[in-house]
Amino acid sequence: MAPKTVGILTGGGDCPGLNAVIRAAVRKGISAYDYGFKGIQKGWKGMVECLWEPLGLGEVSGILPKGGTILGTSRTNPLKDADGAERVIQNIKRMKLDALIAIGGDDTLSVANRLHQEGAAVVGVPKTIDNDLSMTDYTFGFDTAVNIVTEAIDRIHTTAESHNRVMVIEVMGRHSGWIATHAGIAGGADMILIPEKHYSVDDIVSSIKDRHQRGKDFSIVVVAEGVKIRSEKGEELVVLKAGRDEFGHVKLGGVGQIVSEEIEKRTGFETRVTVLGHLQRGGTPTAFDRVLATRFGVAAIDLIHRGEYGKMVSLQGTQIVAIPISEAVGQLKMVDDDLYDIARIFFG
Ligand code: F6P
Repeated sequence: MAPKTVGILTGGGDCPGLNAVIRAAVRKGISAYDYGFKGIQKGWKGMVECLWEPLGLGEVSGILPKGGTILGTSRTNPLKDADGAERVIQNIKRMKLDALIAIGGDDTLSVANRLHQEGAAVVGVPKTIDNDLSMTDYTFGFDTAVNIVTEAIDRIHTTAESHNRVMVIEVMGRHSGWIATHAGIAGGADMILIPEKHYSVDDIVSSIKDRHQRGKDFSIVVVAEGVKIRSEKGEELVVLKAGRDEFGHVKLGGVGQIVSEEIEKRTGFETRVTVLGHLQRGGTPTAFDRVLATRFGVAAIDLIHRGEYGKMVSLQGTQIVAIPISEAVGQLKMVDDDLYDIARIFFG
């Protein structure tokens, strides 16, 4: 029997650890199962347009510590066209793929789930720096992002203290505040604002004022980009929105600026904002993320070997397990109240 050919794609925002997953799946697939691989370029766009490149031991050599993805990525959603799923399934045959590994977050894996329902041999690997994918304790990329933000908070701390300023740090987190909460706790933030909660300008301002009245002369405020804040009149303060991607997500930005302006205006304390943006997603993964991504890549190729299609690898406790992709997509994992309550102890 001819060896199996497996396609691998990376979809959605890039993330440190993607290359480690690709390397692990290819290395185990070749050494243990004698599989061949095709690298699908630019996420689902590559499956719609038949864009692929050879993927063998040479191509995965030296990529373990590299950020980004050697295959490229996109936010193309094939399901937005009525015949999109059918087209991808035809292209799976055209590219002579026996199975496909889709590495991505909720959007990418929703497409994988739909294709599986239509009969495609697909398995999923969860990825997002936001850590908001359900049914896995952690996604790779998150630990790297948290470490980058923590280092930034530490650095901002010393300049905040020297100048007696309020420093607002805007971090990624469209729907959930995992990065803000973890890095905020690790960096000793005086306030952490996350999308799971609702805040008014009054809440924020009075907490900063109280802190300064108790003798503190600087503050660190960590704000997740997806936070919603009400003005004194109860209106939602609008963040900058510039277009939508193919999954319908607005491009976020600007909440840190709004928070910073309101604090300065209403407290009189000199305030600065730092938007960490894509710094949080670039560069080399931490050791934790390299190990998690490697375990996920190996487990994904094992799923294919066992013919367990429609499943996603997941970290539960210390174990890598397989769960139906359908159970992971459609509902995001939000920051739990217990963790936020721990962060709250150190506010003000
Ligand atoms: O991958 C998710 C994410 O990190 C969100 O937190 C953020 O809103 C988004 O990516 C921004 O990505 P891009 O600028 O690539 O559209």
